[in-house]
Amino acid sequence: MLELNIPSKEHDEARQGEALMLEATKNNNGRKLYIESYGCAMNFSDSEIVASILADDGFVTTADFTEADIVFINTCSIRENAEVRVRNRLKQFSASKAKNPGMIVGVLGCMAERLKAKFLEEEKLVDVVVGPDAYRDLPNLINKVDDGNKAVNVLLSREETYADINPVRLNSNGISAFISIMRGCDNMCSFCVVPFTRGRERSRDAHSVVKEAQDLFAAGYREVTLLGQNVDSYKWASEDGTEKVNFAQLLEMVALVSPDLRVRFSTSHPKDITDEVLHTIAKYENICNYIHLPVQSGNSRVLEIMNRTYDRQWYMERVEAIRRIIPECAISTDIITGFCSETEEEHQDTLSMMDFVKYEFAYMFSYSERPGTPAAKKFKDDIPEDVKQRRLEEVIAKQQIHSHYRAQQRIGKVEKVLIEGFSKKSKNDYCGRSDQNFMVIFPVGDAYKPGDYVNVLVEKTTTATLIGKVVE
Ligand code: SAH
Ligand code: SF4
Ligand code: F3S
Repeated sequence: MLELNIPSKEHDEARQGEALMLEATKNNNGRKLYIESYGCAMNFSDSEIVASILADDGFVTTADFTEADIVFINTCSIRENAEVRVRNRLKQFSASKAKNPGMIVGVLGCMAERLKAKFLEEEKLVDVVVGPDAYRDLPNLINKVDDGNKAVNVLLSREETYADINPVRLNSNGISAFISIMRGCDNMCSFCVVPFTRGRERSRDAHSVVKEAQDLFAAGYREVTLLGQNVDSYKWASEDGTEKVNFAQLLEMVALVSPDLRVRFSTSHPKDITDEVLHTIAKYENICNYIHLPVQSGNSRVLEIMNRTYDRQWYMERVEAIRRIIPECAISTDIITGFCSETEEEHQDTLSMMDFVKYEFAYMFSYSERPGTPAAKKFKDDIPEDVKQRRLEEVIAKQQIHSHYRAQQRIGKVEKVLIEGFSKKSKNDYCGRSDQNFMVIFPVGDAYKPGDYVNVLVEKTTTATLIGKVVE
């Protein structure tokens, strides 16, 4: 089972290699589809859109790629190792293709967009390459392959939001689901490939977002995570211009669907997160007290060459605003170590920023130069690999201390937990998330089941998991 409601666990290897299954379809064409997703939550969410488009085209699915007629891999380019994993996976598919030459292999997502038709030259077994804005064209592209051609569509769009497509909930436990509220990114952080793989930022019709949340709630879902690369810059206006919705307003509209529907969101950008958003979170009990606020570096010079457009002071002020307006709010982050020209002192600033915030969770990476990005063009990737790694280890060691500290702070508190299912380790225990996004483990009982909210008294912790018992 995927851990869907850890929005910050959206980065490459964290959730790789999961097979995704499609439901039986209306107009079964007898062909079997297998789809596998890598990368961020946005990619997993896109696979649900792809599944929906192909279900309408009559495909049924299989969790076993060796029996599939079509094998799709939805790819990530964020770091080099994300791409290496995809290439290795393709090698495994080539054995199946040798046995079953009719099998169609498709590459979707960010790596498809980055490499375009080059993919067909570099990986001979690939038949079709499709970028993130071209999924509506899939039935047509498959027809082309059926006619004996290779097919590519990597056109990016300024409008496509797939707003009208009803995703097939592949990734879901029936309790929490993703809702994409925007696509693309206009920020141009110098290290980042996303603006190139996903194109310009565009926001989805606010009413289609609310409708999707309402439909999910009616189907028994109790948690939605609103997704965008920079949710704080969400901006939608009706065609006649009479109605304008910003992110704080969208959050409120979704929160009002039902007090029993939890609302999470990811990712917030430190330069754009407003007090209005923070006040909205504070106002609604069902908007979770959890913000993923990637810092990347704690040093102002490094932030400047990363083109993050905030400095250390600004970030600290935003954290203070969160503490002031939502005192119980958990904060998580992303950190990159060994960015171009980062000195030892500048790395220390990242460590001291961690001490200042004491993040509940963090996703930590060493810098990986991505071809074509502003950093690759302007700066030298001059920090030796062993130094990047050593800095990364220091960051990880510190985060472990902070995660443990934050978990320990919850001991003796009563957490409202949305039950997701059995714990990974035992059928005698349930697991679920607290408001602040901690995983909570507690004994199974007759009076409650997955999808219910329970109050759990926290008695002890592991590094970052809370363990307790249900109380009234
Ligand atoms: N839109 C989100 C991030 C999406 S990418 C945001 O702005 O925060 C997820 C994370 O991957 C980034 O926050 C960053 O920490 C990391 N990342 C992106 N490009 C990277 C690179 N070239 N090398 C290492 N880590 C990178
Ligand atoms: Fe990449 Fe920056 Fe956009 Fe995030 S905000 S996706 S890091 S360019
Ligand atoms: Fe990867 Fe693309 Fe997401 S590069 S992190 S799958 S937006």
